[in-house]
Amino acid sequence: MAYKLGIIGTNWITKQFVQAAHESGQYVLKAVYSRHEDTGKQFAQPFNVDDVYTDLESFYNSGINVVYIASPNSVHFEQVKAAINHDIHVIVEKTAFSNPMEYAAILELLNDHPNVRLFEAARHIQQANFKVIEQQVAQMEKIAGATFVYEKYSSRFDDYLAGNEPNVLSRRFSAGALTDLGVYPIYAAIKLFGAPKQTHYFATPLRNGADGRGIAILRHDDFDVTIEFGKGSNSHLPSEILGRRDTLVIGDIAEVLDVTYYDDEGAAHQLSQEPLANPMTTEAVKFADMMTNPVDTADAYQELLSLSQTVNQVLFDLRQDAGIVFPADK
Ligand SMILES: NC(=O)c1ccc[n+]([C@@H]2O[C@H](COP(=O)([O-])OP(=O)(O)OC[C@H]3O[C@@H](n4cnc5c(N)ncnc54)[C@H](OP(=O)(O)O)[C@@H]3O)[C@@H](O)[C@H]2O)c1
Repeated sequence: MAYKLGIIGTNWITKQFVQAAHESGQYVLKAVYSRHEDTGKQFAQPFNVDDVYTDLESFYNSGINVVYIASPNSVHFEQVKAAINHDIHVIVEKTAFSNPMEYAAILELLNDHPNVRLFEAARHIQQANFKVIEQQVAQMEKIAGATFVYEKYSSRFDDYLAGNEPNVLSRRFSAGALTDLGVYPIYAAIKLFGAPKQTHYFATPLRNGADGRGIAILRHDDFDVTIEFGKGSNSHLPSEILGRRDTLVIGDIAEVLDVTYYDDEGAAHQLSQEPLANPMTTEAVKFADMMTNPVDTADAYQELLSLSQTVNQVLFDLRQDAGIVFPADK
């Protein structure tokens, strides 16, 4: 039986997730929450959904059994907490929570609601091409270092340049380049190489104190991962993982496109497959499987939750290093 899906946040990413969820055949959109009835109805109409709520309590009491949350990062905590208290499964967009204090409170709450599953929607690490990267890394004799780049001019940067403070570039919403874009390569690095021993963040601040771009370094026992990201420029640099003589090159670390392995002789081997049209379909399928088969997938779920928690801690450590404080930290 399909999951009864509710959604929070009515921007384009939610539409993409609902389409992926429907495509998977595992979910049916049943209820929409928006702060404004008009916006909610506008979102719901193409999906033939009538249940639109502006009150969170009524939304959570509407009979949904899973919620997808794509509101600004700072709002996730309260919305997730309320969902868990209603025993509703949660798929929350990256970055899930503002800091480790919020995460700890959520984990404690989950202990009291053992049947609820919590997923952070890090779509890229679920994609088939990411598995290809993992398999290749496992076969490489030596990892000597890596450089991951994800730097894209944001449509919201126009707004910033016009003198405004868009949510996504505001500390008030636990946002900035690190939590909005840096989180993709950081997730990838931690999934591939584990938790770093030491971290540094050299952030380029915007006039409001949020980070507009930056370079993070994740130090491991015998190699470093350099991660460059930003929202005010377009980088066309690929990402790469250095072996000794061999190299794994990834055209786009967030979309996980164009994975090429250069062997010891420098010969190129194209490893990537054509990605699915909707990059959120694989995660939608995977999360549904973990909700439906909690016993069989218990270890995989714990691994995913623990990865999400490690990413949260690393993001926090990086912010501490750069002196970036969110209101949610107090
Ligand atoms: N996985 C991906 O590829 C991907 C891509 C983009 C974004 N994201 C993530 O999705 C989340 C939303 O990002 P976004 O750029 O769409 O954010 P956004 O435009 O600032 O807000 C998203 C939605 O949240 C609601 N909202 C806006 N301001 C709010 C506020 N002050 N308080 C409560 N709700 C508010 C709005 O819906 P209503 O007006 O209907 O209430 C809005 O449509 C973030 O966590 C982001 O990192 C993920």
